Amino acid sequence: MKHLIRSSQLSRQELLSLFDRANEFLPVVKERRKLKLAEGKILATLFFEPSTRTRFSFETAMLRLGGDVISNPQMLQTSSAKKGESLYDTGRTVSQYADVIALRHPEAQAIHDLVEGARVPVVNGGNGPEDHPTQGLLDLFTILEEKGRLDDLTIAMVGDLKHSRVVHSQCELLSHFSHLRFILVSPEGLRMPPSYVTMLQEKGFEVTETEELHVALEACDVLSDTRIQQERFASEEDYLKHKGVYILTPELMQKAKPDMILIDPLPRVDHIHPSVDSDPRAKYFDQVQNGVALRMAVLAELMGLC
Ligand code: NCD
Repeated sequence: MKHLIRSSQLSRQELLSLFDRANEFLPVVKERRKLKLAEGKILATLFFEPSTRTRFSFETAMLRLGGDVISNPQMLQTSSAKKGESLYDTGRTVSQYADVIALRHPEAQAIHDLVEGARVPVVNGGNGPEDHPTQGLLDLFTILEEKGRLDDLTIAMVGDLKHSRVVHSQCELLSHFSHLRFILVSPEGLRMPPSYVTMLQEKGFEVTETEELHVALEACDVLSDTRIQQERFASEEDYLKHKGVYILTPELMQKAKPDMILIDPLPRVDHIHPSVDSDPRAKYFDQVQNGVALRMAVLAELMGLC
């Protein structure tokens, strides 16, 4: 793997071997240890969009591998991008400081421009509404850890399916598995882009689209939840039309199977009531740890560390 740009670039074999590697790294994360695998290597995190988890997760992963980190979490405001520097030039320049680069950017195209200039591996930390491969990977890794399989599952995706790059990545990655049933729950105006629905149907999966959350809750093994993505709307008024449309509460959770799992990339805004946190089926904070192990696996793979 030269770069990790798109979820669709990964084969089933590559997914499974990343999950194996992440599993090996999990005790290092849980025991808060540090390896020497990446000694002498540097990760640069270039973030043009807000982030809590993804940036810290990449950086923690690099530090636990034994490497170092240089970071700019406010590229838009404080990097030379503000003076008009291209992403191509940024990529060529940062490649001379760092051995691997993680980029987050509000525009889907930006990662491709950076890769053109980069002379070291680049990993996509979220490109606009399009893709967020490492989040999708850590979500599947969590499903595998919790359910013991990635085949034969009913997966409900709930929320802003139009703008959430995370659910788009999940669709691409899940398409490698078999006997999956998808229930896509969103308001009419925030439906999953048809290209993903068609792709899943062409793989032979059953796909149901609905606005009714309770239909999905009763049937699903995995509930993949996501917030309404405020920053992707053309106007505040448009966002307000959809704000708070689905709010998970303990009462709603009673409708779900006892062994279902609830995953969410977070941040939480108003879409999960805090009293759901104590439900053992809520896995969104456990995902954080899995994310570090998974990103250790991705960084090790990109840097060719054995
Ligand atoms: C997600 C993102 O940035 O796309 N968050 C994350 O990476 N943990 C989801 C979101 O912002 O809703």
